[in-house]
Amino acid sequence: MTDTGTDPVTGTDPVTGTDPATDADPATDAAPRPLTVGGYAALAKDRLPAATWHYFQGGAGTESTVRANRAAYRQVRLRPRVLADVSRCDLSTTVLGDPIGAPLGVAPMAYHQLACADGEVATVRAAGGSGLRVPTIVSIFASRTFEDLAAEATGPLWLQLYWLHRRDVLRTVVRRAEAAGFRALVLTVDTPRLGRRLREVRHGFHLPPGIAARNLDGEVTGFLHDRQDGSSALARHADAFIDPSLSWSDLDWLREQTRLPLVLKGVLTAEDAARAAGLGIDGIVVSNHGGRQLDGSVATLDALPEVVAAVGGRCPVFLDGGIRHGTDVLKALALGARAVFVGRPVLWGLAADGEAGAREVLTLLRDELEDAMALAGRPSLAALGPELLARGPAAAAPNESYEDPDLRKGP
Ligand SMILES: Cc1cc2nc3c(=O)[nH]c(=O)nc-3n(C[C@H](O)[C@H](O)[C@H](O)COP(=O)(O)O)c2cc1C
Repeated sequence: MTDTGTDPVTGTDPVTGTDPATDADPATDAAPRPLTVGGYAALAKDRLPAATWHYFQGGAGTESTVRANRAAYRQVRLRPRVLADVSRCDLSTTVLGDPIGAPLGVAPMAYHQLACADGEVATVRAAGGSGLRVPTIVSIFASRTFEDLAAEATGPLWLQLYWLHRRDVLRTVVRRAEAAGFRALVLTVDTPRLGRRLREVRHGFHLPPGIAARNLDGEVTGFLHDRQDGSSALARHADAFIDPSLSWSDLDWLREQTRLPLVLKGVLTAEDAARAAGLGIDGIVVSNHGGRQLDGSVATLDALPEVVAAVGGRCPVFLDGGIRHGTDVLKALALGARAVFVGRPVLWGLAADGEAGAREVLTLLRDELEDAMALAGRPSLAALGPELLARGPAAAAPNESYEDPDLRKGP
């Protein structure tokens, strides 16, 4: 396994207690399974081309929002109750009417084939397996077809949309997703243009041959494969094809195209949440796009309480951004999230070991959440509320070897 930070005195890895120099198993050379989500980041970094790693990890500008998403969890502490009979913890719940095995899901991310050959097919198999049955939000820029995914998925599939100039293309993908049995639409509303992602610019990021947005025709995927030094092909593509004029009145058009529930992703304020709930939106994802859009925007855990209060129970509120531990999930649920979505860690799992790696990341988060519920004396999701939390000065820095190595070192 990749050494994520050996103890300078003993030379051992504080996560596994092994010395990578001497403890490798010579018979199999088997790397021990990572014990944390951060361990999968280290494996992924080793296996991916640098440009892909930086595309996955990068945020906008100084990446202050990427870090804020993580730091927010450290500012919230837990108030465990005792003598609560935690012999059985129930993690099952429902999202938009569908039963799921844990209050988790996969956030929409473009081009999973950058991480492993099976791409999103591996992801939906992982999300459906091991009793998880959790939702996958499939990006409009998925590298596998909706139909391929529907054939393999056992958890709910939701389709994420960007607001393309080409409304005819949006209509077509919505119809195809409906026909394939997708359960909801998720309109991303924080991306009128792409954030300034310096790592993509520095690496002249472009799609390698063979990987493409399979659900869109060539007319709307132009120049994603073209390399230009000092420029991201994705940003050039977004400038050309994403319509920045999207506003509230456009939601009516989308409603007319479909009977599927409509979720807005990228809401961070009470004002927008109240307006969305007033319009009868079916769900809100509190998201800052994993820090990839407006650098300096508020951390999602910090935005969650005002959004939950403004919505007042009119629709479910979800959250993504910086979820790396079961206790992160617990904190978001205690502040009113119905479920959380996980972004980069799923790509790390895919890069580390395809479907099995993605499944291990998701089951690790599920298992850690169950441990946290038991140790906090809250055996059911219904028992989670703000009284579980104490706000205070930031907690002592965690053992950094447990963390995503890239966030630790910075850009
Ligand atoms: C490589 C990558 C690609 C992404 N692609 C999309 C996308 O196509 N559509 C979208 O709405 N969000 C996209 N996102 C944002 C995620 O849906 C999500 O908001 C974010 O990754 C959550 O933060 P986390 O990575 O810290 O868990 C992408 C994120 C990453 C890292």
